[in-house]
Amino acid sequence: MSNRGKIHKAVIPVAGLGTRFLPATKATPKEMLPVVDKPAIQYVVEEAVAAGINDVLFVTGRNKESLENHFDRSPSLEQTLAERGASDMQAKISGLANLAAMHYVRQGVPMGLGHAVSMAKAHVGNQAFAVLLGDDLVDVKTPILPEMFAAQAKLGGSILALMEVPDDQIHLYGCAAVEPTDNPDIVRVTELVEKPAAGTAPSNLAVIGRYVIDPAVFELLENLAPGRGGEIQLTDALASLINLPAESGGGVHAVIFRGKRYDTGDKLSYLKSVVSIALDREDLGPDLRAWLTSYLAGQI
Ligand code: UTP
Repeated sequence: MSNRGKIHKAVIPVAGLGTRFLPATKATPKEMLPVVDKPAIQYVVEEAVAAGINDVLFVTGRNKESLENHFDRSPSLEQTLAERGASDMQAKISGLANLAAMHYVRQGVPMGLGHAVSMAKAHVGNQAFAVLLGDDLVDVKTPILPEMFAAQAKLGGSILALMEVPDDQIHLYGCAAVEPTDNPDIVRVTELVEKPAAGTAPSNLAVIGRYVIDPAVFELLENLAPGRGGEIQLTDALASLINLPAESGGGVHAVIFRGKRYDTGDKLSYLKSVVSIALDREDLGPDLRAWLTSYLAGQI
């Protein structure tokens, strides 16, 4: 069965507990934390839509109602904005519900990213699909999904996004061993390990939160035992895809990501995302840059 072709469905898991960002994430999902004036998840959905996705399935859990509300119509707010003559903002607010067809499935118990993705089986069907982690922000100036979709159309199978990280940080990520291909930006993945123990990582290439996955992953996830941290790990199912024959949906390649991305579930990375995105904005950048420069010079 060939699964090459246009990717139009994305699965966005947002059911994690966000424990690294407590207490802010006790009652607010980490994906709803604002990055300047939009919640982090809005950047993720806009990135998917810009790459051609027209159908989004959120894998949600308890406390995620604010996220559903964000992507729904809000008639009274829209009316108030219209009455105040704020038609630009009214259009932005009403447009959020039309970014893509939005669907929701609940994970129930957050048993890991692999378990979250397995919830998407019925919705996804038999086509390759994208997965975007809801707390992983890719800078709009350095998108990676188009390259991943093109690689999937050419090579089939599943496509990961890998980023070089310092040796002392690779234990925080899924890690890939790779072989080169004739394209310097695309590698063949030969081994995947989730959060390797210090000194055991096969490379310093970290898996980041963008995936194109063959639906063969669902059967593998169903039969997967809990892995690292007692969770059903997506990395373990992807590792099994490496050795599956191509005609059964196997084969894993990766695009090397050389742009900017932020993990908004991590406090320091979140702060960097806010500063960097604000500095890039015409309305805020110049004033923020001037203030930061004075602040860092000890003048404030
Ligand atoms: P993380 O490991 O970053 O999320 O998962 P977490 O568990 O919320 O993080 P901390 O360590 O407690 O702060 C990556 C993505 O997978 C989702 C998360 O919402 C996040 O977008 N996820 C994770 C689920 O949807 N379900 C899970 O069971 C685990």
